[in-house]
Amino acid sequence: MEVKIRQFHSAMKKNVPTILSIGAAVQDVFLSQSDEFKAVCVNPEECFMNLELGAKADVNRITFSTGGGATNASVTFARQGLGSIFMGTVGHDPAGQAVVDDLDKENVDTRYLSYSKRYNTGYSTLLLAPTGERTILTYRGASTHYSKKNFKIDDVDADWLYVSSVAGQMDILHDIFQTAKKKGIKIFWNPGKGELENEKQLKGLLEDVEVLSVNKEEMQQIVHGETSEELVRHGLSLVPVVIVSDGPNGVVASDGKTMVSAGMYEDVKVIDRTGAGDAFGSGFLSQWAAGKSLKDSIIFASANSTSVVRYIGAKRGILPAGVKLHDMPMKEVKL
Ligand SMILES: Nc1ncnc2c1ncn2[C@@H]1O[C@H](COP(=O)(O)OP(=O)(O)OP(=O)(O)O)[C@@H](O)[C@H]1O
Ligand SMILES: [Mg+2]
Repeated sequence: MEVKIRQFHSAMKKNVPTILSIGAAVQDVFLSQSDEFKAVCVNPEECFMNLELGAKADVNRITFSTGGGATNASVTFARQGLGSIFMGTVGHDPAGQAVVDDLDKENVDTRYLSYSKRYNTGYSTLLLAPTGERTILTYRGASTHYSKKNFKIDDVDADWLYVSSVAGQMDILHDIFQTAKKKGIKIFWNPGKGELENEKQLKGLLEDVEVLSVNKEEMQQIVHGETSEELVRHGLSLVPVVIVSDGPNGVVASDGKTMVSAGMYEDVKVIDRTGAGDAFGSGFLSQWAAGKSLKDSIIFASANSTSVVRYIGAKRGILPAGVKLHDMPMKEVKL
């Protein structure tokens, strides 16, 4: 019965693009407002939390949320009114149920979600310092031991793939990308740490990618370059559209025709930066897939990520459809 309802949801979305998000699904539990989470610094670059071994620390706030790059992205697409499908793996446990409940509530199609027999759902405990800085204890579980059979996209009806990290399992990505190519599905890729470590295979996979979106440090692992502009130019020899973000310093993007360099959308107080990158990438694709310009897609991406860092949790600040955006510092040059 439930499956029929979900199919009805996606079948209703006839005139908008459908995006399949692939990658991690986890439960995030945030602990904040604790004296012990205040930074103790030995120098400005080296700070620690004040957790004494064997001691008991009081925490005055707890926030439950779900995360994982692909579930966060799938919620951006759904809130923006696009067809949104999630593919990833959870365990048979309450955290997995929380993930499924959140996606159902947001109208994300979960028929391709799979369950691990051996592992629990990925689970992160995030300790938030008063500055918004976070220390994360992560159990990756079902979001790191993927099985190839759970990532078959042959029957999936989608226009785009949003691919975030699959824990460096390049063989799974290879199969997915090959099938996507055969089916004419375009690929947006935000590779994770595990993928970036496999440099040779990464370059091979990039041949089938339409949009590559990474932060500056990640891009420096793929091509040479000092500035974001330089990195984007070099990236254009690998893929048609390149986006390099640099936290509060802004973002540079190009589709080979023009290059957009943007600053900060708004100087907000950062409460929790979890999910900033996901909100940025998915915010971009939600507009780009619908035919918006490079500039407008970057404005929405920036607005979406700036909204996310204002709240605890990776999903709460994701923008609904129809919000009024304002301009931001930005220049666009012809290439
Ligand atoms: N301190 C901040 N203030 C305002 N906006 C921010 C801040 N940090 C990040 N953002 C927004 O989030 C976007 C993505 O951030 P960033 O470049 O740090 O990505 P990332 O390193 O991939 O993040 P993540 O760690 O989530 O993967 C930025 O382009 C910006 O719009
Ligand atoms: Mg990132």
